[in-house]
Amino acid sequence: KKTIENVDVAGKAVLMRVDFNVPLDENLKITDDRRVRMALPSIKSVIERGGRVILMSHLGRPKGDAGDAKFSLKPTAACLGELLGQDVAFATDTVGDDAKAKVADLKDGQVLILENLRFNAGEKKGDAAFAAELAAFADIYCNDAFGTCHRTDASMVAVPEAMDGKPKVVGFLVAKEIQYLTDTISNPERPFVAILGGAKVSDKIKVIDNLLGICDKVLIGGAMAYTFSLAQGGQVGGSLVEEDKVDLAKELIAKGGDKLMLPVDTHCGDDFNANCNKVVVKAGEIPDGFEGLDIGPETAKIYAEAVKSAKTVVWNGPMGVFEMPPFDAGTKAVAQAIADSDSTSIIGGGDSAAAIQQLGFADQVSHVSTGGGASLAMLEGQEFAAVNLLDEA
Ligand code: 3PG
Repeated sequence: KKTIENVDVAGKAVLMRVDFNVPLDENLKITDDRRVRMALPSIKSVIERGGRVILMSHLGRPKGDAGDAKFSLKPTAACLGELLGQDVAFATDTVGDDAKAKVADLKDGQVLILENLRFNAGEKKGDAAFAAELAAFADIYCNDAFGTCHRTDASMVAVPEAMDGKPKVVGFLVAKEIQYLTDTISNPERPFVAILGGAKVSDKIKVIDNLLGICDKVLIGGAMAYTFSLAQGGQVGGSLVEEDKVDLAKELIAKGGDKLMLPVDTHCGDDFNANCNKVVVKAGEIPDGFEGLDIGPETAKIYAEAVKSAKTVVWNGPMGVFEMPPFDAGTKAVAQAIADSDSTSIIGGGDSAAAIQQLGFADQVSHVSTGGGASLAMLEGQEFAAVNLLDEA
């Protein structure tokens, strides 16, 4: 795809879709500004070359509550201003009078953020009239919103469609995410090992299925391992399971053969709290009154060994309840093994991205995705309409 650096932006307005869907605390303070920081290269590339940037994003899932401060993008303007070292203008609406006035006032080298796209019903509906108003603001469209690339909202599809004849490009972040989550994965250096965790098999079925087709090993952890254990006739005690996914787990076990690795032991507790009574048992032998809360130490060792010998690693989903020590041990062991290995390592967004950052290993891996649902969709092998319609390089 053509990237933002391939277009002449001097004297031009660039409408840039970013994913500033950041977590806010009750005081409306941003608790993790990573998505804002990751958009900096594209924004800087435009203003440093004499262009101006109109940023648009969603935040959360407001339902007809335009103006609700907890869904406002206003805090992101201050955050971005600090990171850029220059004032960032903020429009209190998206395509209304304030936005129109501020777009008209915007000078080359300056940045403006429009208010939450989802305060407008037209955004989720992909409405053409709403899209046309946004499209009229600029000369160039740039998609740097990787976390939203699996969506077909107006700003992702109808807006670039409405900018017919104008350049439509990807930003540096989207280019990098595609490079790792599509290019590296479809042409991996081997052995290629995937580690998949998280609570539900249902969230990961298509990912497991797709990765079984391309990986050398797929290691399973997290609560979804108990559904697999049940499929093998194991005893899971009070563990979290999806009874209705047991048949599916059986199919994946049959399809996976030696490639699919399941835990050999489980760290259990008799209650969902850090002070509960704990016991390590063989997988499939969880006693009544106990639930599995992490992979066991033997499994952690085996998984770490598999990671050590890998040349490409993809990790998505924690191995256990990593926010509740000591049930963070499995996730820590896997994260440590990934950090220590010299493989190309790709961390899917969401919980595993949070875990790798919390554990302090984020700088020791090749790529930490900014997408939750979007990175899963890419690992499923899905194509994104929002990317396909952009200009080819
Ligand atoms: C995300 O955080 O996954 C993206 O910003 C997409 O948000 P959505 O699931 O509300 O569309």
